[in-house]
Amino acid sequence: MPATAARDLENIKVGNTPLLDVSFAFPELGDKVKIVAKAEWANPGGSVKDRAGYFIIKDALETGKLAGGRILLDSSSGNTGIAYAWLGARLGIKVALAVPGSIARHRRAILEAYGVELFFTDPLEGSDGAIREVRLMMQAETGRYWYADQYSNPMTWRAHYETTGPEIFEQTDGQVTHFVAGLGTSGTFVGVGRRLRELKASVRLVSMEPDGPMHGLEGLKHMETSIIPAIYDDSVADSRIAIATEEAQEAARALGRKGGILLGPSGGANLAAALRLGRDLVAQGREAVIATVFCDSGERYLGERFWAP
Ligand SMILES: Cc1ncc(COP(=O)(O)O)c(C=O)c1O
Repeated sequence: MPATAARDLENIKVGNTPLLDVSFAFPELGDKVKIVAKAEWANPGGSVKDRAGYFIIKDALETGKLAGGRILLDSSSGNTGIAYAWLGARLGIKVALAVPGSIARHRRAILEAYGVELFFTDPLEGSDGAIREVRLMMQAETGRYWYADQYSNPMTWRAHYETTGPEIFEQTDGQVTHFVAGLGTSGTFVGVGRRLRELKASVRLVSMEPDGPMHGLEGLKHMETSIIPAIYDDSVADSRIAIATEEAQEAARALGRKGGILLGPSGGANLAAALRLGRDLVAQGREAVIATVFCDSGERYLGERFWAP
C-alpha cells in the first residue's frame, strides 16, 4: 500500500462511539435492568456501517485489491454505500453502487454528493435485487471493478469483533449480560457476539429479525426469505426475536418523546427487542445489562410518516 494511503487511513477515526444508557426513559425496567446502546450516528458517515466500510477498504488497500485504479463495487441499501462513499472520497478511491430504485431521495443525494456512480435496481426486489445486479456486472466485467461484497467479506464481522465488541465490554466495565441486535449482513451481531462470548462466557446473545418478508426496517433481513449472507453464522445466537415494523417504530417514537433521542427504524427495532427482553428479565426478578446498537439517527428518516402521532 502506498505510504500516503496508510497515513490517511490512520487519520480516519471510526468507532469509539458513546454508550448511551436509555433506561431512564423506560421506568418499567425498574432499577435492576439496564438498556445501553452504542450511538453509531457519532461515526463520521453517520452509521454503524462506517465500521465495516473502513475495515473492508483498509483490507483492500493493504492487499492490493484496489490497485491500478480499480473501482470499488457493491450493493447497498444505503448506509454501507454512504460509508464507502465518504471513505472513497477521502482516500481517492472510485466507488460504484447498485441500489434499489426505491432508495430515499435524501440518501441518494448524500451518495451523489460524494461522487458515487449509482446503478438502480427493481424496488420490488429490495436489497437482494441489488446483490443480483452486482453479480451480473461481475460476470460481464474485465477487471474494471473490485467487488467488495459486504455480505461475504469477513471484514464485515471482523470490524465488530475488533471494535464494537471490546468497546461494549469496556464501556460496561464488563457488566454486560445480554447483547441483542438485528441482522442485515449479520456483521454486527456475529462480530460483537463472537467477541463478547470470548470475553465473558456467560453473556446471552439474542439475534433479531423483522417478523416477515415485507417490512420497513431499513438495513435488516428476514433471513428465511432472503439470500443468506455468507458471513452469517446461526450458531452464534442463544435465542432469536422477531420484531414487527410497527413495534420498532413505536419504540423509536417512544425514545424520541420520552428520552430526547431520535433513532432510525433498525435502531428502533433493536430497542424494541431489548425492551421485550428487559421486561421478561424484570418479570423474573433478574439483574441485567442489555447492550444493543443504535445503527443510525432518526434524522436520516424524517421524511417517513411514522414519526407522526
Ligand atoms: C440502518 C441499518 N441498520 C442495521 C443494519 C444491519 O447491520 P449488519 O449489516 O451489521 O447486520 C444495517 C446494515 O446495512 C443498516 O444500514
